[in-house]
Amino acid sequence: PLVAVIVVAAGSGTRLAAGQPKAFVPLQGQPMLAHALRGVTGMREPAQIILVVPADRVVEARQIAAGVNIRAEADPSVSAPVSALDLEVVVGGSSRQESVQRGLARLHPSVEIVLVHDAARALTPSALADAVVDAVRATGHGVIPGLAVSDTIKRVAETAADASQLGTVLGTVDRSELAAVQTPQGFPRHVLIAAVAAASPEMTDDAAIVAAAGHPVRVIAGHPLAFKITTRADLDRAEHLLAAART
Ligand code: C5P
Repeated sequence: PLVAVIVVAAGSGTRLAAGQPKAFVPLQGQPMLAHALRGVTGMREPAQIILVVPADRVVEARQIAAGVNIRAEADPSVSAPVSALDLEVVVGGSSRQESVQRGLARLHPSVEIVLVHDAARALTPSALADAVVDAVRATGHGVIPGLAVSDTIKRVAETAADASQLGTVLGTVDRSELAAVQTPQGFPRHVLIAAVAAASPEMTDDAAIVAAAGHPVRVIAGHPLAFKITTRADLDRAEHLLAAART
């Protein structure tokens, strides 16, 4: 394949407080990871899929992937049914960046474009990943989906010598210049590999890593369903959306 998707699912999900890693939390009876994988397997172009999971979840992740594969074969609406998904499961690291790096180490030699996708964005439509691939191919640049920000955004004093100044509004940010970014984020293979190798360990955003290495990154239209499931309220919202889609 010319495209690979690294699905990062090795986070602990502490903010969701579901007692297990987030990607394995059920959503309408199936782990979040199964939903995320369905989106990836529905892409127009068959891709190498690299699934990055916690060390103690490798077997479970393989079982989940096998289930998605069987359904993909049975479902004619999936554009590229593949008898055996080109998928492998690898153990993640202690930071998201390390997890991405471990995924990158497994790329097939043929891969030219790499997408990095959060398993926590479980409802992301396949078409968004297709659009990211198209834009990387057309521009040769990094491409990330983003949505306009609808709330008014303030800069607020988070650190102040005088505690009474904490929370003071410092200014209003020009919303027209802002985008709330999502995944999958796509990059030419060599650009991402070089940028990740040069990145400082605390950076969590792939596009920021690529931009810091001096490469252009552009934003394309994101999708409301690509929201990240972080809190209980996000999970409830995802449940409702899936339930509504079934009726
Ligand atoms: O914690 P957060 O929601 O920002 O994580 C974003 C994504 O990165 C999640 O899909 C999570 O599973 C993944 N991640 C990872 N390895 C880590 C930390 C986060 O794969 N060490």
